[in-house]
Amino acid sequence: MARFPLRRAPRRAGPSIDDRVRDLLSRMTLEEKVGQLVQYSSREDMTGPASGSSITPQLEKGEVGSMLNVVGAAETRRWQQIAVEHSRLHIPLLFGLDVIHGYRTLFPIPLASAASWDMARIEQAEHIAATEAAAAGIHWTFAPMVDIARDPRWGRIAESAGEDPFLGAAVARARVRGFQGDGSFAGTDRVLACAKHFAAYGAAQAGRDYFTTDVTERVLRDVYFPPFQAAKAEGVATFMAAFNDIDGTPCSANPFLLDQVLRREWGFKGFVVSDWGSIEELRAHGNVADIREAALKAFNAGLDMDMENGAFGPHVAEFVRTGKVSLARLDQAVGAILAAKFRLGLFEDPYRFSDEQRQAALLLAPAHLEAARDLARRSCVLLKNKDAVLPLKTSGLKVALVGPLADAPLDQVGTWHAKADKNDTVTVRAALEKVYGAGLRYARGCETQGDDRSGFAAARAAAAASDVVVLALGEDVFQSGESTSRASLDFSGPQIALLEELHRAGKPIVLLLMAGRPLLLEKIEPMVDAILVPWHPGTMGGPAVADVLTGAYNPSGKLPISWPRSVGQIPLFYAHKNSGRPEPLRPKDPYFSRYIDLPNSPQFPFGFGLSYTSFVYDQLRVSAPVLTESGALTVTVRVRNIGRRAGEEVVQLYVRDRVGSVTRPVRELKGFQKIELAAGEARDVAFSLTPADLAFWRADMTFGAEPGDFDVFVGPDATASLTASFKLD
Ligand code: GLC
Repeated sequence: MARFPLRRAPRRAGPSIDDRVRDLLSRMTLEEKVGQLVQYSSREDMTGPASGSSITPQLEKGEVGSMLNVVGAAETRRWQQIAVEHSRLHIPLLFGLDVIHGYRTLFPIPLASAASWDMARIEQAEHIAATEAAAAGIHWTFAPMVDIARDPRWGRIAESAGEDPFLGAAVARARVRGFQGDGSFAGTDRVLACAKHFAAYGAAQAGRDYFTTDVTERVLRDVYFPPFQAAKAEGVATFMAAFNDIDGTPCSANPFLLDQVLRREWGFKGFVVSDWGSIEELRAHGNVADIREAALKAFNAGLDMDMENGAFGPHVAEFVRTGKVSLARLDQAVGAILAAKFRLGLFEDPYRFSDEQRQAALLLAPAHLEAARDLARRSCVLLKNKDAVLPLKTSGLKVALVGPLADAPLDQVGTWHAKADKNDTVTVRAALEKVYGAGLRYARGCETQGDDRSGFAAARAAAAASDVVVLALGEDVFQSGESTSRASLDFSGPQIALLEELHRAGKPIVLLLMAGRPLLLEKIEPMVDAILVPWHPGTMGGPAVADVLTGAYNPSGKLPISWPRSVGQIPLFYAHKNSGRPEPLRPKDPYFSRYIDLPNSPQFPFGFGLSYTSFVYDQLRVSAPVLTESGALTVTVRVRNIGRRAGEEVVQLYVRDRVGSVTRPVRELKGFQKIELAAGEARDVAFSLTPADLAFWRADMTFGAEPGDFDVFVGPDATASLTASFKLD
């Protein structure tokens, strides 16, 4: 972590934040209070005539509480001056931005870093992101995105931690800690975080972004809520409502979500911001007749801040005057927003985050780039390594580097690339040229889209003149992220044709799959000797890939999602129910839950990832045959590295509740530990289980465990077969 004298908030002796909020509220007019509910975006770069300046009069009247997409120490200072120096009460603005996987130093996309299963490094990455964003005047990031995603057709799976509530909750906690630290905001290296998109946005029907979700309350609570609960437990300062409707009610005006669950059950005291336009979209949902009704419904449901809707600003004061909105409700929303500003020390020093010297010193600091490289290599997942074709020798080897992702500085960093400059990216090509020099032959081969095959000849020639082909295929930056749902998960454009062409050259092929989601490998897998998934690995993705390809780093990534064989299997996830006719109930009997044209199983299971060494698991035991209601039991397994080099392994613990008052998943992740073992080293790995770990939403919609028989499975992925059992009393 790069160091710079943190501009410490002046010591805040004297009245508490609550007292200061109450005092300020007592001095605010109704219009000034409503102004705090309003967030506008910067409409264009401040170097041009700011069309956003149309909001200057509102700023000067103190009728804007926050802005998003204004970045840079100078620009944020400029807007802040207008708000603070011209308004009557000098209330500072909050500046928000989507810092999703880094600000200027871009880390791997969130789906990739989740594949590292390394919570400490994920936390460090978000601390660095916060440090750089805060140095650029940002107070608040619209992250972490903690949506459970079980449908790779949905482009925003790239922003998620994948399919599993337990892993998703662990990642959510790590990201919030990284952004907010201890929540004191004493320094200027942390920002407010935002758990989004509340809720079940990833359950969109047909995998189509913004589309309807229809999940039961039990699935909401068992699957989609846990990462949000984890973020709340970690002290996340804000939530963002999702675009979708759930069971007929849009999230932005959903009192069950925003009031009942978030505030009454979970005790959340921060504030909830709409997603961009999501209040106004209640009209398109067909849930209200006009924006005035949308504003009333959303505000009374518990939505606090209006992101670019133009809904709260024009209407809430009238609602209060006419009794449609209580003053208490208004003060609750405004108070939560003001409290966030007090926490950041903005009333003492509105410009403490807008420091051009700190910005110049911290963005792209060498320590940040090294951390990005380290996390990127730990996020790479090795799916195939036939005849140990990897790692590659670093001398005496001629390498053909081919493919549209090999030298793709913008595509490599992936979606939501904040204020990255593509010139900062170190591409795979640049990194491998550094390793192989003249021994590297590069040919782009084709693009990710279109059908231009004119580059095939040069690619074929490069392969013919080389010992091995490294082929970088996948998705470009416009094929991943928001509003990029795909009906097909095939490699787009002529990428497969390029592979087939190279396959005919008869050289070993190492596939680099650089994308924001799983792409289908069934047809491809037989044609390649190795498959490495760096995903979209960020600014330092090139050196990270080179570290793994050459063995400078032994890959340790594990899939945070089940890898489908076909789109027809989706939604596909390991923690599925057993059904009444599971396979292979009666192997000879065809009447069980199956496809007649494909296995049920994924191509690669959740939690899967190879290493350059091998691990074996044995000696699984539980500390007691019975777990009592107030007790705990320990599950221990022996893991051995039987290879010739050190390596890291993510040891995973799954639990099955054999019988429940409602049907239960065939197994659920309940623990994981990433360990490093030297060649030949063996180690006992222990997990503790308590009844709380076995709790679920039961038939009567109460939360808790139920007595009965349980199985545990420990191993390297969700198909772990080493098993033991215990009884819960
Ligand atoms: C977008 C996204 C949300 C983001 C917001 C501000 O539509 O849905 O994740 O934080 O708008 O950019």
